[in-house]
Amino acid sequence: MNMLLRSSFLAFLILGILQYFNAPANAQVTYGKNGMVVSDNVLASQVGIDIMKKGGNAIDASIATAFALAVTHPEAGNIGGGGFIVLMKANGEVTTFDFREKAPLNASPDMFLDTEGNLVENSNHQGLKAVGVPGTVAGLYLAHQRYGKLPWKDLVQPSVNLAIEGFPMPWGLYQVALNLAEWDESFDIMTNYFRNENGDIIQPGEIWRQPALGNTLSLIRDHGHDGFYKGPVADEIESYMKANGGLITKKDLEKYTAVERQPLKGSYKGFDIYSMPPPSSGGVALIEMMNLMELADLSSIEFNSTAYVHLVAEAMRRAFADRAEHLGDPDFNPEMPVDRLISKEFAQMRLENMDMTKASASDSSRFGQLYDGSSTTHFSVVDKDGNAVSLTYTLEHSYGVGMGSSKLGFIFNNEMGDFNPQPGITTSKGQIGSDPNQIVPEKRMLSSMTPTIVGKDGKPYLVIGSPGGRTIINTVFQTVLNVLEYNMRIDKAIEAMKIHHQWLPDEIRYERHLMSPDTRQALEKMGHKLRPVNNLGVLMGITYDPILKAYVGASESSSKEGAAVGY
Ligand code: GLY
Repeated sequence: MNMLLRSSFLAFLILGILQYFNAPANAQVTYGKNGMVVSDNVLASQVGIDIMKKGGNAIDASIATAFALAVTHPEAGNIGGGGFIVLMKANGEVTTFDFREKAPLNASPDMFLDTEGNLVENSNHQGLKAVGVPGTVAGLYLAHQRYGKLPWKDLVQPSVNLAIEGFPMPWGLYQVALNLAEWDESFDIMTNYFRNENGDIIQPGEIWRQPALGNTLSLIRDHGHDGFYKGPVADEIESYMKANGGLITKKDLEKYTAVERQPLKGSYKGFDIYSMPPPSSGGVALIEMMNLMELADLSSIEFNSTAYVHLVAEAMRRAFADRAEHLGDPDFNPEMPVDRLISKEFAQMRLENMDMTKASASDSSRFGQLYDGSSTTHFSVVDKDGNAVSLTYTLEHSYGVGMGSSKLGFIFNNEMGDFNPQPGITTSKGQIGSDPNQIVPEKRMLSSMTPTIVGKDGKPYLVIGSPGGRTIINTVFQTVLNVLEYNMRIDKAIEAMKIHHQWLPDEIRYERHLMSPDTRQALEKMGHKLRPVNNLGVLMGITYDPILKAYVGASESSSKEGAAVGY
């Protein structure tokens, strides 16, 4: 590393130490005139801001932030998983990038079943057969080729520095490190993940270095897409898979491509909503529910009232039933009725079979009749020219499959668990068996990630997204509603009480202590089942304040090291 890079990295490290131990509390509202990054880790947000200060645009900042999160937020930040980008350009045009993982060439619809055709418990989430062909490096590289401004190397370098020079262990990761120490040896890479050369768990404030990951990132910095999908990294992925019962080969890696897709577009009371099309179900379900809310006219329904929770839960029930029946990878399901599902006419029909006085039934046998018709991370970025990026990417579970070659230093996803594992079997617990999301070689598994940008007069008004599996769709939906309908400031909108209904199981999950006992009782009388959960969503959002002419950002308080950084 030359002297200049080294001294600027040293300054960055000192800033990092100060930020970790004097970090602005997350969920604290932050303002910026020229740009903002809101991510699950303060160092990664700062990397994005530094890139913008060097002349990079929002896509450049997002690429650098994504690689930095792979080092500083390894439970979900990744190069071994996949995700989606929604990009609004300064001229108001919107596009998306799909870098969702794919089923390997040797995968099959019954690969997780026993000889009797039953799902072998956890087999679709545990062990290397659960790994989808990673898409993150391909997606970031394609986005850079199409819309990046600064050289690729400059965007990957900060993550190489973070991995090789290290950064102070934050308290949140230290808590995880204590838990991981209990994991058994089958999670090979994880047993030493947070340990120093002496085998001791890195203490809070002690520098944590990841030399193997730094080396892999250097190859990606120097060779771009091919640094991951060809050469020594691909060779090692194949031999690690072969040695440990995985399916992914060099051919899978060579064949993997990311795709630029048209966004889904909806509207709500004069705002334009842009979100991710299939293979994510997020955009379809979000727009379907926003249409329902517009028609139901919330202006006389108070936030958090019984009528509000009932209406929102019934909208969720319907959108999730449609998701289960119709959605999958568009490259394998050319007939998906996406335009119909996001139309105002369809929402009108959905509203007509909703009873405002009682809960409906989530009956899986009624596909096509009534329903006619754990860990991820999100960050939001805006730049001074008005480009905006909403990026959600994932390893599926927290730390994915918990396995990876220690020569490469990164963890693989367990995204095969997002396919429907047992053809034809839909259960009241929420396992779906419909056709569009069955396992087929090279197919992308259905996702719930919902990176979203709301525009007003061709400019970004709200940039938002969240982790949380199927709950993502609903936490993003409610936050969009909180901003557009209830006029909440972004920090209030992301912290406000949220619920989750996903059709099956037929229950409303609500955030413990945030729904009044009276409301719960009234909902139960209407026939709803209720279940408390500790938290829903880890939202990262940015809005534009036209009076201040500034961006306003906040990360949800449930994020351990998240922060909005503006300038
Ligand atoms: N793995 C979470 C999702 O894609 O929805």
